[in-house]
Amino acid sequence: MYRNLGNFELKIPKIVSKIGFQPSESVSTDLLHGQKVELFIKRLDKIPGESSGNKYFKLKYNLETAKAQGKTQILTFGGAFSNHIHASAIAAKAHGLRSIGVIRGELVYPLNPTLVAAKENGMIFHPMSRSLYKEKYKVQHLKEWMDIYGDYYLIPEGGTNELAIQGTREILDEVDTAFDFICVPIGTGGTFAGLYASAKSHQKVLGFSALKGEFIHQEIRELLAHHKLVGNKEYKLFSNYHFGGYGKISGDLIQFIRNFSDSSAIPLDPIYTGKMMYGIFDLIEQGFFPKNSRILAIHTGGLQGIAGMEQRFNFQLYP
Ligand SMILES: Cc1ncc(COP(=O)(O)O)c(C=O)c1O
Repeated sequence: MYRNLGNFELKIPKIVSKIGFQPSESVSTDLLHGQKVELFIKRLDKIPGESSGNKYFKLKYNLETAKAQGKTQILTFGGAFSNHIHASAIAAKAHGLRSIGVIRGELVYPLNPTLVAAKENGMIFHPMSRSLYKEKYKVQHLKEWMDIYGDYYLIPEGGTNELAIQGTREILDEVDTAFDFICVPIGTGGTFAGLYASAKSHQKVLGFSALKGEFIHQEIRELLAHHKLVGNKEYKLFSNYHFGGYGKISGDLIQFIRNFSDSSAIPLDPIYTGKMMYGIFDLIEQGFFPKNSRILAIHTGGLQGIAGMEQRFNFQLYP
């Protein structure tokens, strides 16, 4: 799938715009010069405070609504290494809400770094077998949790709903209208949908799926239709940069992430942003982007997941 990047050397990144907490940094490589394209990275991972990355935007209106509805706790779902579980625990605590995490599969002790942090932020874990987890939204389960824990505000797995998309519409701001391409990793598609909704008509949004399979094309079509976001803007999805599937890695990917981070001082995670960035460089090398294109890659965060991946695969991403 992937060809050698060639002369891959990033120069020191330069902060070119700073809107509140969201500086975009430009990166510069021989490859970019050769292809005459510019690449900027919007560092949502640098958002300080309760939870960073795309999660800040996805949770923002959900937590505000939970409080406005008089709820005192949220209930949400995810795997044991989930960025969403991690961020939900931290953000809920910061908003003065309790959090319950329905975790896919048995809890493994000692807890991994994601769950340790979630627990430290007060999250109560409700483990659910993998087979039952598939039907987690069934009314009987929702009622059972209500009986056990009391009333709660439900946030779906991955956090994508109407209010999450309302939040992710706020990722792009005025200065970003200068870009021709907006690139983002895709899990459930909520971040992609908000970006697509807020992009200008001259911009094309590119989504890089972290999951294996062509289903993502239909899923995104349905998501956009469901939220009435179908418009005359262009988008394109790439389903060939998953490296074997969700949470899977390869030596090639790890080497790329290390090279990129060594040269740019921008850390990437191996589940979402690393795969997207790999895809962007691969596309640049293939000449996908027309000359003089200005590309904006959204750094959606996820760096908390690195420690868990390292533990799981017994390696160090940044030795
Ligand atoms: C770091 C990171 N990037 C991207 C995504 C994908 O976001 P979405 O589920 O909105 O497609 C996620 C998952 O939520 C994530 O944790």
